[in-house]
Amino acid sequence: MTDTLESLLVEAQAGLEAAKSSEVLRAWELQYLGKKGRVIEAVRSVGAMPKEERAAYGKRANEIKVALETAYAEREEAIKAAELAQNLEAGEIDVTLPGRPVNRGGLHPSTHTLRDFYRIWATLGFQVYHSREVEDDDTNFTLLNFPPHHPAREMQDTIFTTRPNVILRTHTSPGQIRGMRELGENGTKPIRIILPGMCYRYEQITARSEVQFNQVEGLCIGRNIHMTDLKGTIAEFAKAMFGPQAKVRFRASYFPFTEPSMEVDVECFLCGGQGCRVCKYAGWLEIAGSGMVHPVVLQNGGYDPKEWSGFAFGMGPERITMLKHGINDIRYFWANDLRFLEQF
Ligand code: DAH
Repeated sequence: MTDTLESLLVEAQAGLEAAKSSEVLRAWELQYLGKKGRVIEAVRSVGAMPKEERAAYGKRANEIKVALETAYAEREEAIKAAELAQNLEAGEIDVTLPGRPVNRGGLHPSTHTLRDFYRIWATLGFQVYHSREVEDDDTNFTLLNFPPHHPAREMQDTIFTTRPNVILRTHTSPGQIRGMRELGENGTKPIRIILPGMCYRYEQITARSEVQFNQVEGLCIGRNIHMTDLKGTIAEFAKAMFGPQAKVRFRASYFPFTEPSMEVDVECFLCGGQGCRVCKYAGWLEIAGSGMVHPVVLQNGGYDPKEWSGFAFGMGPERITMLKHGINDIRYFWANDLRFLEQF
């Protein structure tokens, strides 16, 4: 019976020598020294031997087991060392190679303009108030004094959702209502806020109009706010934004949520009012809509219009960015073309 043990030993030794990788070695271990390995089974089979053979067989089987375990440990050590050396060589780093260029990100041109806005309006005492982009029809229109079915609603083509009354805001003005209600403490506290953020309209995308764009709304509510405050404040903003020589003018206009309403022009900062391609030879550039907050809107915000008044305005950062940098197509803004974005 010990013959089979001897041939098992020879076979196992040959297998061990042939093992050149940890994977093969692991398979070998399983085959010979594992719980159900052949050597272990051989040791275990002592009990089945005829009595007189048991001592010799058992002794030899154990010797073989110990010998193979030792040989296995040695082989394992050698393979590990070889593999480590190989890995080190393969993973060697050539520190003399030139480094990969680091691509530095930059701010989006609209973000630059928005940050200018925040900085300037902060110096004028306006805090940033973030209102929601998903609005309800009531807040976006009705509470802003757009009567139901009134043609004024068509000034802004709306993106509706499948839920009744839930829309994407078409302008930042609904934030006026939310700001007044949240910060006004039932119409008892003055407010000075700007409301920046994305707006959405169901429009044909062209060089001049996009389905999404930023607006920055402004709202100032107090006990003695007059049109002069609006004009002075906007004039200060224009100086800070476009330079100390910047002149503004106000043109009568119409918005449902302001009365009176005005459009704000700044003297063309490219030609100094002489007339050029960008201002279409008018010498003036439109930069904002504005007006005195309509009494109905004040009321909807929780204020008594007999005691409180206010002004509001709305500006388009993309439009101002386009004017500043001579960008002639608004579609560049959300097209993610690095050739455009890397210029800012
Ligand atoms: N919400 C207007 C629009 O999207 C812009 C606007 C005009 C905002 C006059 C105002 C304002 O606050 O007073 O066209």
